[in-house]
Amino acid sequence: MSENNSPPAILITGAARRVGAAITSALHAAGANVIVHCNHSRKDADALVLELNTQRTRSASILQGDLLAYNALKGLIDQAASAFGRLDGLVNNASAFYATPIGSIVEDHWNELIDANLKAPLFLSQAAVPYLRKTRGSIVNIVDIHAERPLKDFVVYTVAKAGLAGLTRSLALELGPEIRVNGVSPGAILWPDTVSGSNDYPETERQRIVAQTPLQRVGAPADIASAVKYLMLDAPYVSGQILAVDGGRGLSL
Ligand SMILES: NC(=O)c1ccc[n+]([C@@H]2O[C@H](COP(=O)([O-])OP(=O)(O)OC[C@H]3O[C@@H](n4cnc5c(N)ncnc54)[C@H](OP(=O)(O)O)[C@@H]3O)[C@@H](O)[C@H]2O)c1
Repeated sequence: MSENNSPPAILITGAARRVGAAITSALHAAGANVIVHCNHSRKDADALVLELNTQRTRSASILQGDLLAYNALKGLIDQAASAFGRLDGLVNNASAFYATPIGSIVEDHWNELIDANLKAPLFLSQAAVPYLRKTRGSIVNIVDIHAERPLKDFVVYTVAKAGLAGLTRSLALELGPEIRVNGVSPGAILWPDTVSGSNDYPETERQRIVAQTPLQRVGAPADIASAVKYLMLDAPYVSGQILAVDGGRGLSL
């Protein structure tokens, strides 16, 4: 992962808040320059970029765009690569997440959930390949333990993340030897901001999930961030792997 003496430059999608912001801060703390992608959360992204640039001058840059806009995806990668004159890493973290019980699914749900969680990672990765080949870079996809075992009532999201797991392994096969591709599958880390328009993720549901987890607690964004940092920067002989960071919950789903 080196082209010249400048630090590696890594694009993180959906990086303004929550897990994406933790991944961004961890990669930055490890010495990378970061390109902070956001869509609606511009204020949060601006604040994060300001904070990181205060820590280290010209080490963070912002990139805004809707990942549902297929025609803009290649341009986003080109912009990301021009921010620091190189691109060493892509973290496909951005995601749409909501329930789609059978009987309620319409084409718009399919398009948004598949496009945000699967189509955008594929086309961003494809556009990044020429840059990543030059730097012997790496891609990390943020998957979900429910890619392996379905989440009840979340049919389309489950299909999209299962596709992302397949994409991770398929790209690892296609892109060696220059580019490594891996995934991180979070368990329960942060409760969703909204569930069916409500901000209250049901307490009984939280308790049920914690009880199901061998480590008997939810994880923290920093847990996901350290796994991403490991796969992105410290695992030169690892490719095609999807690391569950779930307190063991995948064992009892
Ligand atoms: N939170 C958990 O416990 C958990 C569990 C399992 C898996 N995961 C996975 O871990 C990752 C991060 O989780 P999270 O809960 O932090 O994610 P999140 O808050 O649900 O979403 C992250 C970001 O994705 C961006 N995004 C969504 N649709 C977009 C679009 N069309 N174009 C551009 N950006 C878009 C949003 O950016 P803006 O706000 O800028 O619009 C959002 O802030 C996701 O891939 C998620 O599936 C999380």
